[in-house]
Amino acid sequence: MTTTVKLFLALAGAVLAGAAAASLPAWGAAAAVLLLAASFPAARGLSRSLGQPLHDIREAAEKIAAGDFSARVGPVPGDEHRQLAAALDKMAARIQDDLSRLERVEKMRKDFVANVSHELRTPLAAVKAYAETLVSGEPQDVKTRQEFCREIEGNADRMTRLVDDLLTLSSLESGARSPTKEPVSLMRVAGEVVAALKPLAQRKRIVLRLDPFPDMPGVPADRGQLKQVFTNLIDNAVKYTPEAGVVRVHAAVGKGEVRVTVEDSGCGIPAEHLPRIFERFYRVDKARSREQGGTGLGLAIVKHIVEAHAGSVAIQSEPGQGSTFSFTLPLPS
Ligand SMILES: Nc1ncnc2c1ncn2[C@@H]1O[C@H](COP(=O)(O)OP(=O)(O)O)[C@@H](O)[C@H]1O
Ligand SMILES: [Mg+2]
Repeated sequence: MTTTVKLFLALAGAVLAGAAAASLPAWGAAAAVLLLAASFPAARGLSRSLGQPLHDIREAAEKIAAGDFSARVGPVPGDEHRQLAAALDKMAARIQDDLSRLERVEKMRKDFVANVSHELRTPLAAVKAYAETLVSGEPQDVKTRQEFCREIEGNADRMTRLVDDLLTLSSLESGARSPTKEPVSLMRVAGEVVAALKPLAQRKRIVLRLDPFPDMPGVPADRGQLKQVFTNLIDNAVKYTPEAGVVRVHAAVGKGEVRVTVEDSGCGIPAEHLPRIFERFYRVDKARSREQGGTGLGLAIVKHIVEAHAGSVAIQSEPGQGSTFSFTLPLPS
């Protein structure tokens, strides 16, 4: 006799005894036994349906414990089981998200180190080669030796620019240079930067124009950082615009914010590069950027500073049609 049948007989006996004790009529006792008999397969089903969710939950928990964070329980019957399964699934999803974020950060860190090493290797190799040649006593004529010295100086400058930009980025990221907000006149900062870059523009016969900004209150910002934003954007516009082009800086006040725009008639940027243009070390044309003394970090610094001021950056560009870089900053209410 199986355990379940024994259990059924015991229960039936108990029901009959109970019925007798309660002096139920004979048909009542028979009905109770029939009811029990009828409910028995359902009870078995019930116990299975209670056991299955727990089994599923345990199975998912074991998988998660073994490091498979994609394991999920999914829908199960019963309120409490459902809540438990949902909590477990939520926990696994959270761990999975955190892990993929960590993996992304780790990949970015590795890429960054590889990029920095790569950027330093070229100027370092040049410095070494020129220095070795000079040390060996070759070439002997003073003019060529001076040229070699200038090459060494140029490459050292390039490495200095890279290290400076890296230090700026790292202090921005560590929060060491979290913006010290004071009311800043954007027009004045733009004017200073335009004046400083005028000689560079003139050398290429580029018209560098600053349109008067609309009246607006001082923008709460870190003056030094804003100056860097203007410098990087206007420097790019001049660098990537061919001879006799035009670079125009203007601003417009909108709902609670000001939008500053740097527009150029330069080479433009193909659409496929636009989504990544603000990433560190991302350049459309590496050789051209290096030739212009670029580090590939200027726009990443711009984005960082603008976002630290609760603003946003944007770009519109078409190859051969020039580029329009803009950023917004919130105005005091
Ligand atoms: N005004 C512009 N016109 C065309 N291309 C630009 C312009 N500004 C930036 N770029 C592209 O974006 C890249 C990244 O700019 P940036 O971060 O300032 O680095 P860098 O100027 O040092 O190369 C540049 O290498 C260039 O390809
Ligand atoms: Mg630049």
